[in-house]
Amino acid sequence: MKVLGLETSCDETGVAVYDGRRGLLADAVYSQVEIHAAYGGVVPELASRDHVRKLVPLVEQTLATADMQLSDLDGVAYTAGPGLAGALLVGAGFARSLAWGLSIPALGVHHMEGHLLAPMLDSDPPEMPFLALLVSGGHTLLVHVSALGVYDILGESVDDAAGEAFDKVAKMLGLGYPGGPAVEALANTCDTSRFTFPRPMTDRPGLDFSFSGLKTAVMTALAGLPEGEDVAAEVARGFSDAVVDTFIIKCRRALKATGLKRLVVAGGVSANMALRGGLERLVGELDCRVYFPPLRFATDNGAMIAYAGHCRLAAGEQDGEGYRVRPRWPISELRSPQ
Ligand code: KG4
Ligand code: ZN
Repeated sequence: MKVLGLETSCDETGVAVYDGRRGLLADAVYSQVEIHAAYGGVVPELASRDHVRKLVPLVEQTLATADMQLSDLDGVAYTAGPGLAGALLVGAGFARSLAWGLSIPALGVHHMEGHLLAPMLDSDPPEMPFLALLVSGGHTLLVHVSALGVYDILGESVDDAAGEAFDKVAKMLGLGYPGGPAVEALANTCDTSRFTFPRPMTDRPGLDFSFSGLKTAVMTALAGLPEGEDVAAEVARGFSDAVVDTFIIKCRRALKATGLKRLVVAGGVSANMALRGGLERLVGELDCRVYFPPLRFATDNGAMIAYAGHCRLAAGEQDGEGYRVRPRWPISELRSPQ
């Protein structure tokens, strides 16, 4: 079964074709970063309008790369949520119409399930069950994954998501948008930091996260400095160390509590090399294994939506003739395919 996957939940237009027999046939991502950079964050209406402009050419390009025609497709999967309502509607409307025109099934996919399954696109994918740490711009979740659609939320952020914290700290440091890669690059320019920021919610039991106080700690540290002192790199290092340590502590706790031997880390922040390194060390200690998506599928992309859509469409799941997007959609509401 060949599934076209469309991702338009935020500021990347992602398109891919996944084939159950041959794997990923082609994928293309267009990032809107330049459009939003001037505003220091994503402007929803500009995002929707640009998805309208880019979706059709990207679909044509992806099909050409895969050496396929529209008529070769067996299904269309699109991100139905969570995300920006207008941006989601562009992908959903296009996907539903295309599927209707081709008389093939369509399916709205959960964006975070896409991230969660992205490590399956690697050459050595994890088997279920596993513990998943999902770290994106909008969500931070620890999930016990028993099977496709059987997700038990063990912990989540009570305020900011990890990626959001990276983006906000980047802004405080005068770095551009998106902040994560910029903070990582700056942190890499120094080995140590005079700043020891809090490891939030690690001093009490539980698997929830909070990043808002950490962000405030960074702001307070910056405000207390004498003018003219350039400590941005040390702040970036101290902040990154605090985030990585926090994830190491919570993942250690969750792996021990569940007895799971496999850890999957996905979502935009999983592109962070310090986080990857820290979690590699942790699983070495615990005799477990960690799996990450291929780097280009850590941040938003169409391949993860094509793959997640394929898993469910191939199991017989499909939408009716209408469509609806869910800007807010808890992953715990997902079920295994009927
Ligand atoms: O998964 P994603 O592409 O989009 C959402 O679903 O939100 O994640 C985007 C987030 C942004 O907050 C971005 O700053 C962060 O992931 N990010 C990073 C890195 N690359 C992207 N954070 C830390 N280090 C990185 N290398
Ligand atoms: Zn995402």
